[in-house]
Formats: sequence, C-alpha cells, structure tokens
Amino acid sequence: MKKTVLVSGGAGFIGSHVTVELIGAGYDVVVADNFSNCDLTCFEGVKTITGRKDIPFVEMDFCDKTAVRKLFADHAIDAVIHFAAYKAVGESVSEPLMYYQNNLVSFMNVLEVARERGGCNVLFSSSATVYGEPSPDRLPVTEQSERQPATSPYGNTKQISEDVLRDCVKAYPGIKGIALRYFNPIGAHPSALIGELPRGVPNNLVPFITQTASGKRACLSIFGNDYPTPDGTCLRDYIDIVDLAKAHVCAVARMLDGKMKQEYEIFNIGTGRPLSVYELVTAFEKVNKLKLNYKFAPRRAGDVTAIWCDPTLANEELGWKAERTVEETLEAAWKWEKHLIEK
Ligand code: UD1
Repeated sequence: MKKTVLVSGGAGFIGSHVTVELIGAGYDVVVADNFSNCDLTCFEGVKTITGRKDIPFVEMDFCDKTAVRKLFADHAIDAVIHFAAYKAVGESVSEPLMYYQNNLVSFMNVLEVARERGGCNVLFSSSATVYGEPSPDRLPVTEQSERQPATSPYGNTKQISEDVLRDCVKAYPGIKGIALRYFNPIGAHPSALIGELPRGVPNNLVPFITQTASGKRACLSIFGNDYPTPDGTCLRDYIDIVDLAKAHVCAVARMLDGKMKQEYEIFNIGTGRPLSVYELVTAFEKVNKLKLNYKFAPRRAGDVTAIWCDPTLANEELGWKAERTVEETLEAAWKWEKHLIEK
C-alpha cells in the first residue's frame, strides 16, 4: 500500500522540492503550510512538475495543537517531515521569543500528537549550524563531531529540537526519528518552476547573487576576504536543492522500511567539498556567461570561517550521494531568477 508522508512547511523552498521527489518516488504527500515565509508559487509549481493537481493541501499553523490533531485525524500519516520553522539567523537575534515560540512549539505539537496516536516516523530538518565554528584540524565534520554552543537563537532552536526528538524517541514507543543536518542548500529545480523566494533583501548568498545578476540589487558584497582560507573568503559545503530533497526520500524509506539501526539517527547532508564564496561567485559568472557586480566588504558578524562535512555516513547508510555539479546548480538558480523576472 502507498505510504503517506506529511510535509510541514511544504510550500517553502526545501519543502516544495522534497514534495516533488516524494511524489516521484511513489509516496502520497499531504502538504501543510501557513505561508509565513512563502506564497502559493512553489506549491503551484509542484503540481505542474508532478502533473498532480490533487495533492492535499492544508493551510494551518503547527503552533495550533488543535489544528495538528485534526490534520493527523483526517489523514493516515505514516511519516512526517518537519520543515515548518523560521530560519533567518539575524532576525532570530533581534526576535528570540518569536523563534523559540514558533520553532519549538510547532515541533513539540507534532511530537505530542504523534505520541497520542501511538507513534510516527519523524524526520527533522536540522542544520550544520549545530557544529558552530569547528577548529580547522576538525574539518570535515562528521556526525560524531561535537556540537558547539549555538551562536544564535535560530541555531539554538535546531539544537533543542534535535534533543527533544532524541528524548521523545527514547521515552515514547512508536516514535522514530531522523535528523538531517543540511549544509548550505542552494539552487532550484531544473524546470525553474520552484526555487527560493526570499522576502525583502536576501540574507543568503545565492539569492543575493541571482538578484544582483538580474539588476534587482546593485552590487553583491562578499563579506570578508581576509579569512585564513586559500583565497581569503569563507568556505562552505553548498548542496544542490534537488540532491538535498532526494536525501529526504532515502531517509523516509529507511524509516518506513524498518532499516534504521537505531531509533534516532543523525546524518550530515552535504557534498564533502568546500567551496569559497569567491569560487562560487566566479563559477556563477562562468556558467551563466555574465559579469556580476561585486565588491569585497567587511566580514559579517557571526560568520564561521570554514565548514564542510564528511557525508560518508549518508552515502553508506542512506544510499544517497550528492550528484549535481555546482555548475548545474548555479545554472538552475539563474534560470529560476529569470523565470521570476518574466512572471
Ligand atoms: C546560514 C545559517 C545556516 C542556514 C543557512 C541557510 C548559521 C551560522 N548559518 O548559513 O544555518 O542553514 O544560512 O539558510 O546559522 N555571503 C556574502 N554575501 C552575501 C551573503 C552571504 O559574502 O550577501 C557569504 C557569507 O559570509 C558566507 C557565505 O556567503 O560566508 C554563505 O552565507 P549564507 O548563504 O548566508 O549561509 P551561511 O551563513 O553559511
């Protein structure tokens, strides 16, 4: 029988790509979102890409426990992927209560309702931010690398949520959990029908690059060129959004097919290849055959110098590997930006 996966925050950037891959892999998907950081654009794109006009959609807030109870009562949910959370690091520093309230309460509601119903397979969307600033001799990070005290309330909600999931798995029979720690998700679906839709001035690098290329932003600032790295700019592990989405399908299958080795597991999801900000900018120019207006600017507060992962555990245990080249990813990101301008 077909299994049903609930995707909370499924109309957003990562959630929409994951929904496409789940449907492609034969799952039924229920999408739920409150549109706090997106609109209907990506959900409409998902319907077009998959050719499925009938994907169940529920507009709701996961902080509303009654609504979460109703959602689980109305649909036979075999697994839930929880994306519904705020994600802007800077905003979390100025509005910590908003972040703790939304990110923690929504996730605890999912877990509480899962427990009431006798259990569920729960996949939590975590982040490399839990590793903080690893010392250079500790790179790449593995799942065994120590977590560092969070440098922002956003990062803290990821750490706390991981711990809440771990403790619930231990305490409540029937709840199983996987946390995927994403490195830097970038790009867009090759169809250019779904992608990142930042509100206002983008905080993240790739949307800022594509908006500079389109003329929406005058100039990209590369934050810091005096870091102790080969070209002086920060190093990150940029992971293609479609590759990242496929990792979720592998993790869901692992849970539903009874392949987990422990009831709570953690996987790093990245390429294992560090790329500097400058390398990314020049790769974008080269593959899309354009000149980007950029300048070197002072370091951004809170940025770590370098972080990338060892994805061996995910490669071996999930049977997943990042496949797309950064060129393909940056081509897709630009195609998506052009699609937005034409709309
Ligand atoms: C941040 C979060 C991470 C989250 C990710 C995606 C932390 C410490 N980091 O990662 O958890 O998963 O966003 O939402 O919590 N840059 C520029 N110019 C710009 C923008 C960025 O030079 O206009 C540089 C940054 O200095 C950094 C790199 O690009 O070196 C990547 O930045 P960004 O895309 O914001 O991601 P992170 O800060 O790595």
